[in-house]
Amino acid sequence: MSTDDAPTFHDVDSSSDEGRAAALAALDVQAQLPPIQRLHAWLIEQLDPLPGMHVMDVGCGTGEDVRGLAVSVAPTGTATGVDPSETMLAEARRRGEAARNPARYVRGSADQLPADDASLDLVRSERVLQHLTDPVAAVEEMARVLRPGGRIGLIDTDWRTLATWPGDPYLTTAWREDWAGVPSPAAGAQLLDLVLGHGFTDARVTTEVLMLRPRVLDRPPVSFVLERAAARAEAAGESDAWRQSLEESAARGSFVFAVTLYGVVATRG
Ligand SMILES: C[S@@+](CC[C@H](N)C(=O)[O-])C[C@H]1O[C@@H](n2cnc3c(N)ncnc32)[C@H](O)[C@@H]1O
Repeated sequence: MSTDDAPTFHDVDSSSDEGRAAALAALDVQAQLPPIQRLHAWLIEQLDPLPGMHVMDVGCGTGEDVRGLAVSVAPTGTATGVDPSETMLAEARRRGEAARNPARYVRGSADQLPADDASLDLVRSERVLQHLTDPVAAVEEMARVLRPGGRIGLIDTDWRTLATWPGDPYLTTAWREDWAGVPSPAAGAQLLDLVLGHGFTDARVTTEVLMLRPRVLDRPPVSFVLERAAARAEAAGESDAWRQSLEESAARGSFVFAVTLYGVVATRG
């Protein structure tokens, strides 16, 4: 896969066919990872969705989480997944229909949510703020649609914590310059500040380290920055040996990639 085909979550629909397929596949893989599943379990326990509640998942992707919420708030509540991507919404609707799940899916953006002021009990948003240039405006909008006493639940990555072994200087520099190519790479660590800055109280926080051991280097997320790292290695005349050492490390299972994710839940004052 070339970097052109890598998932660009800030605008999935403008990716190539391969890029859109990769974005959908990446979400399915990530949903299976134990640290992500632990964050999901923590968030849902803290949010405590109950029958009759009106809830929203902002940047719902393929809708796995909003379908879970829909079951919890049934039969009288409503669960809405919001996403700007028709690719994501079409897949979410397809899966929802197959599962006969009552969640509904609406096209929209975090900075202009399709809900009235103070009309929702719970809002969640996972690994979305990092893809936005203005996460502050998005949290302000989530605060607008929540009723007083309603709860917000956010999960995001702090890409600044990314560490790899081998401690390859080209790869490490490329990561540090690129921060996974997202506009708000520190979103995870920023979550507490975002909610406390918008009148939320009783903020709770947790973290998980997501550790991957990629066996091949041509798939996201490593492939995102490998091209840039390769250009640096080539300029230093070390291209072949460099690439070989990384591939050997990956093939032996000693290539590690670790990054911290944060979860925050808080109550609308
Ligand atoms: C990494 S995916 C996470 C999807 C889902 N929350 C999950 O955890 O599986 C990021 C999602 O944010 C969506 N997104 C991008 N820009 C957005 C915006 N301005 N408002 C809301 N969602 C957005 C993307 O279309 C994509 O579905």
